[in-house]
Amino acid sequence: MYRIIETQILAPTISKLTVEAPLVAKKRKAGNFVIVRATPTGERIPLTIVDSDPEKGTIVLIVQAIGKTTHIISELQAGDHFEDVVGPLGEPTPVSNFGTVVCIGGGVGTAVIYPIAKALKAAGNRVISIMGARTRELMILEDEMAGASNELIVTTDDGSYGKKGFVTDALQEIITGQGKPDAVYAIGPLPMMRAVAGVTREPGIRTWVSLNPIMMDGTGMCGACRVTVGSELKFACVDGPEFDAHQVNFDELIARNRTYIGPEQQAFETWKNRTVTTDCRHI
Ligand code: NAD
Ligand code: FES
Repeated sequence: MYRIIETQILAPTISKLTVEAPLVAKKRKAGNFVIVRATPTGERIPLTIVDSDPEKGTIVLIVQAIGKTTHIISELQAGDHFEDVVGPLGEPTPVSNFGTVVCIGGGVGTAVIYPIAKALKAAGNRVISIMGARTRELMILEDEMAGASNELIVTTDDGSYGKKGFVTDALQEIITGQGKPDAVYAIGPLPMMRAVAGVTREPGIRTWVSLNPIMMDGTGMCGACRVTVGSELKFACVDGPEFDAHQVNFDELIARNRTYIGPEQQAFETWKNRTVTTDCRHI
């Protein structure tokens, strides 16, 4: 059992949880993730480790409430427990001193890019970060991203905060105005990462994205997380989750991620309409 030390609502539907997991906290590197189960019979959910404190033995997770399980996790409070937390999983982010690096976080993907931007800045890179959200109230971790970056550009789709437009508009402006960066890391919804790859392909800017396919075991055994990268079949949980954006077959991954949408919606509706009693909040 893994105790939740603290919870915080960052934005509507987005929560931050600080969890006691000393061995994970000691070993994790930027880019690693964990697979958590909220209850003994619960679904296994991969979540990026946003931060850690090896001395206190804690890790920070950020979850967006979309379906049944992510809503259950979002309702957990300090003092509650995860049934299990497995990790750190995945390959750490390839971090070296490239020169100037653009780090892009789209929506809740900002939680995933934040530790990477921090590691890239610590490695001596000049980090220009772009963070985008649909609207101001969905913007998360702005102070943290400012601390992890030499320059921070904020965009909203509706223009309610920062520059109006998509993160790709801001990226294009940087390339046009400041010249080609040495590398780009982009994390967010799949259409965003596909669009970033479209911007950086022709100028030949090396670009990494972090993929979020359906996962089960997280150890390369089940094949649920398979993705096509170039002409090769890869398992995101052990070969990734980060890959060369120009080689990823995004269309295939978008289609695969929709496989269980019907059952997922049905499970969420059933859970939402359940009869809640005081002692079965997490069922
Ligand atoms: P969102 O849909 O609100 O988009 C966030 C930002 O991404 C937008 O403000 C825009 O700037 C940019 N964007 C979106 N579509 C774009 C497009 N077609 N072209 C260019 N830019 C575009 O994001 P959200 O609702 O917070 O994201 C949720 C999604 O992110 C979920 O599908 C989730 O699975 C995914 N996600 C991915 C990872 C990962 O590791 N890849 C991590 C967390 C979440
Ligand atoms: Fe099973 Fe990756 S989640 S192989």
